Amino acid sequence: MTTQADTWGIHKAQFWLRGQIPDEPVQFAPDLGMWNVYGYPETLRILGDPGLFSSETMRMVPEIKRSNEGNLVRMDPPEHKKLRNLVSHAFTPKVVADLEPRIARLTHELLDAVDGRDRLELVADLAYPLPVIVIAELLGVPSSDRDMFKQWVDKMLENSLQFSLVKRSEEQDRMVEVALEQAKHLTDYLSAHAAERRRKPRADLLTKLVEAEVDGDRLTETEVANFANILLIAGHITTTMLLGNTVLCLDTNPAEKARVRADRSLVPAAIEESLRFFSPFAVLGRVTMRAVELGGKTIPADQLLMVWIAAANRDPRQFTNPNVFDPSRDPNPHVAFGRGIHFCIGAPLARLEGRVALNILMDRFPGLRLDPDAPPEFLPSPNMTGVRKLSLLRH
Ligand code: HEM
Repeated sequence: MTTQADTWGIHKAQFWLRGQIPDEPVQFAPDLGMWNVYGYPETLRILGDPGLFSSETMRMVPEIKRSNEGNLVRMDPPEHKKLRNLVSHAFTPKVVADLEPRIARLTHELLDAVDGRDRLELVADLAYPLPVIVIAELLGVPSSDRDMFKQWVDKMLENSLQFSLVKRSEEQDRMVEVALEQAKHLTDYLSAHAAERRRKPRADLLTKLVEAEVDGDRLTETEVANFANILLIAGHITTTMLLGNTVLCLDTNPAEKARVRADRSLVPAAIEESLRFFSPFAVLGRVTMRAVELGGKTIPADQLLMVWIAAANRDPRQFTNPNVFDPSRDPNPHVAFGRGIHFCIGAPLARLEGRVALNILMDRFPGLRLDPDAPPEFLPSPNMTGVRKLSLLRH
């Protein structure tokens, strides 16, 4: 049966978006040579025990030669804590709250540009440029270079192939090669800017990173570039998806849309529910350090786990009516930003951008609705859940 998820181009691996529930919360995938974890309690257990479930997943694919220095997401304690402490200063509640007027101004400027038109494409017109400009300004790289970042990042996300540890193919090799090439463009670009900041400090995050000390040591150029790289990628594609997904969730649930429009205090809850319903970062990787019992299975040591947080967010053992978009869910303990020591450092920024942009969008376009002749298009990647094209009519 063709589902709405098929029409929208959502990857076939994401069966929970097709109303299906997994037979078992933990399953070995022989064709991929790794384990899929779909359940909520199993996900909490993994994310809560970084000693047993390591984030250093790249050791499972030694043929992918890429330096992970400074890549916070792929680090384990104690190195993870040191770097995290250092960079968390850049994302304190005060730093983030101070960005609100700038985010509002940018949203207005981007929407001014579409003022004369009777339709807009939400991603290109607002949801992509807004977070990328914000993160570029925070880092201190020219936001006018954003078409360049977009080209690199788009190429990384274009692929719909699921990575396999056991079934090597030319297509997979090509996918890895393209991803590494694009990542190198980004790191070279950021390294050049970091080197420039060492010579000429400025009031920006890149300067803070090159000047920062961990236990008396400065970060190396590769560490700075790799960390900035994570920020640049995580700091824009995910928030782009969050904005697009939330508009889509509201539009396909007219009663909720009317309620949220009428009572803006519901906007943050609508954003949280959109994160649960369509979790932008669908999957996280972990490696077992020892053999472990999980979800009724025994997983040996040194196994790669694909932790599908997007599926955990639809687990009926945790969420009543998981396939209903319900902004009044309270509590809503979704794991779209992860949990534990790697909990998303940018969550306050993403939430703020979402709230500000959504409110302004509703204020300026009271009749905004999906274009019935142009269905939403999702990213083809198995690892992401997010619209890449959302055509809207103003009236
Ligand atoms: C809707 C938007 C976002 C979503 C859904 C999201 C999701 C996530 C998730 C699930 C993790 C945990 C990774 C893991 O445990 O392996 C994470 C970590 C991270 N995110 Fe986000 N993110 C978003 C926005 C942002 C933004 C705006 C930034 C930066 C400005 C950011 C920077 C980071 C960083 C640096 C980490 C690594 C933290 C660590 O390993 O300690 N994210 N994010």
